[in-house]
Amino acid sequence: MIITKVWMIYHTKSGNCRKICEDITEKLKDKYEIRTDEVKRIKPEDISNHPPDVLIVGSRITFGKPDKTITGFIKKLGKKLEAPIPKAATFYTHMSPWQSDFAKMKSTLKENNVAKEILLDFLEFKIQDTGKMSGPPELGQEPKIDDFVGKVREFIGI
Ligand SMILES: Cc1cc2nc3c(=O)[nH]c(=O)nc-3n(C[C@H](O)[C@H](O)[C@H](O)COP(=O)(O)O)c2cc1C
Repeated sequence: MIITKVWMIYHTKSGNCRKICEDITEKLKDKYEIRTDEVKRIKPEDISNHPPDVLIVGSRITFGKPDKTITGFIKKLGKKLEAPIPKAATFYTHMSPWQSDFAKMKSTLKENNVAKEILLDFLEFKIQDTGKMSGPPELGQEPKIDDFVGKVREFIGI
């Protein structure tokens, strides 16, 4: 049996993206071979040398767009990959009300030839504005993770 390989990458400052990745990993690991990494701890070559079937990218929103650290990693990855990764999905953590132009990771993945097909639906996870940038999550966010996982499973189709 061929096992679908899923690689999740994220950048975090206060842990929310990590927590979401851990939740998603727990919910997908029954069916897929899944690996999760903070981009500061790996190099783009780690992925380009062993490309997965599916890439999931988690971005914190800063200054109205996906954080530069994760965007920069994706750009470097695009230069290293021999061929685009077949499928990708995206999620975001943010603090201000959601704006559609926050969701720029999809075009970054496409423009840099990192992924061929990108899931149209994405997870946007709102952090409470408590004066600190770390949250906690706003009430009602957790069920969105299950919804996203369901869509990712359908998208992978295995
Ligand atoms: C310098 C800075 C700028 C930010 N700008 C935005 C913003 O423009 N819009 C927004 O919704 N959240 C903004 N945030 C809040 C972050 O999205 C939030 O801290 C982050 O998603 C938390 O994720 P993490 O715990 O994984 O680091 C900003 C946070 C920082 C520190």
